[in-house]
Amino acid sequence: ATERTLSIIKPDATRRNLTGKINTVFEDSGLRIVAQKRIQLSDAQAGAFYAVHKERPFYASLVSSMTAAPVVVQVLEGENAVLRHREVMGATDPKKADAGTVRALYAESIEANSVHGSDSLENAKTEIAFFFAETEILP
Ligand code: CMP
Repeated sequence: ATERTLSIIKPDATRRNLTGKINTVFEDSGLRIVAQKRIQLSDAQAGAFYAVHKERPFYASLVSSMTAAPVVVQVLEGENAVLRHREVMGATDPKKADAGTVRALYAESIEANSVHGSDSLENAKTEIAFFFAETEILP
């Protein structure tokens, strides 16, 4: 089925001018960028977005890494978009990511791993609504 998922190109990647190269990986996989904006996350926004990880030892560091430079938030649309996006991002830890995936190509570390993607269709709906009004999504 056609799905939508929330994608974030993280500060480590925007800093290195990799937005276009990462978008090419997404588009070459058949995903369509149907909404996109470059924004500076506040501590409160990054903390709320990653609230599920609040008790993890890496939470404070994750929040500060996500606010260190602008991010590009996007809605990607396509057949099985949630899973397809996860496949082309590769494993969270770039050392475990398959060759050719965004994280194998570009990630610096498990934390500075260049991209975020929703992990389920249900979370995708919540995460898309966190950043976008329905009127900003233009398939
Ligand atoms: P993301 O897919 O955005 O979801 C949560 C993020 O937390 C993850 O990518 C990484 O940036 C970060 N993360 C996950 N595991 C670790 C870890 N063990 N150490 C540091 N950061 C992590």
